[in-house]
Amino acid sequence: MNKITIKDIIKKKGRSKISMLTCYDYSFAKVLDEAGLDMILVGDSLANVVLGMEETRRVSVTEMLNHTRAVAKAVKHSLVVADMPYTSYQKDPKKCLYYAKKFMAAGADAVKIEWFQKCPYVVEKLIKNKIPVMGHIGLTPQTAHLLGGYKVQGKDKLSADNLLKQAKQLEKLGVFSLVLECIPLELSRQITKSLKVPTIGIGAGKYCDGQVLVLYDFLGLYQGKKLKFTRAYLNLFSQAKTAVRRFVREVEKGKFPNKSESFSLKK
Ligand code: KIV
Repeated sequence: MNKITIKDIIKKKGRSKISMLTCYDYSFAKVLDEAGLDMILVGDSLANVVLGMEETRRVSVTEMLNHTRAVAKAVKHSLVVADMPYTSYQKDPKKCLYYAKKFMAAGADAVKIEWFQKCPYVVEKLIKNKIPVMGHIGLTPQTAHLLGGYKVQGKDKLSADNLLKQAKQLEKLGVFSLVLECIPLELSRQITKSLKVPTIGIGAGKYCDGQVLVLYDFLGLYQGKKLKFTRAYLNLFSQAKTAVRRFVREVEKGKFPNKSESFSLKK
């Protein structure tokens, strides 16, 4: 399988749907890559599902860079997108290019930027400096506290029009794709139709050009609140728990390790 490029992702619009999952480590990145996933997002959901933090805003640049490096090392096929954490561009937008270069040097093929007041400034600056950018509008977790919490966005005409405007503005600035999070499917359909670049939905219904899920929701591993729009393709939490219980029993009973799992002295 060849390495997927930004051009390949854009060309898929209207031809075939785009698949994306988040990923945070080398071993799972290998699974996703070998299975033929189009894009891997080193999401700042790392904060919640891996580091046990309440808010994605808390994850540091160093943590995100470490996980981006681990994922990029494993990937031969999928396009790797690194989520820029809050502190790398929202705290001081002027520093966005400095940090984006660090993510590219860590092995990312592109970075993702969530909508906030200075988003157009950041996106323009990065794209002018040849850094491919994926936008993210709708429910933007880094600024969820300003949106009334983790709620569906764009339900009324005013906020729907506003989201459409943001999408068009980001396309004009040159994003190569756009994540639509937690918005009504009628609105994501309208946005998808009005853009030339692909939309990737999470909680945005079936009309998007692609779909993204958080890996640990997809695997049935994360035990946080069950969200309406996620689908667990495995029940890894319960399967892993059963396996650990078996290990505990086998260690207690002296059944692990056996002879073939042990070393012997030379005769
Ligand atoms: O960090 C993340 O997991 C994300 C997805 C929800 C798109 O940004």
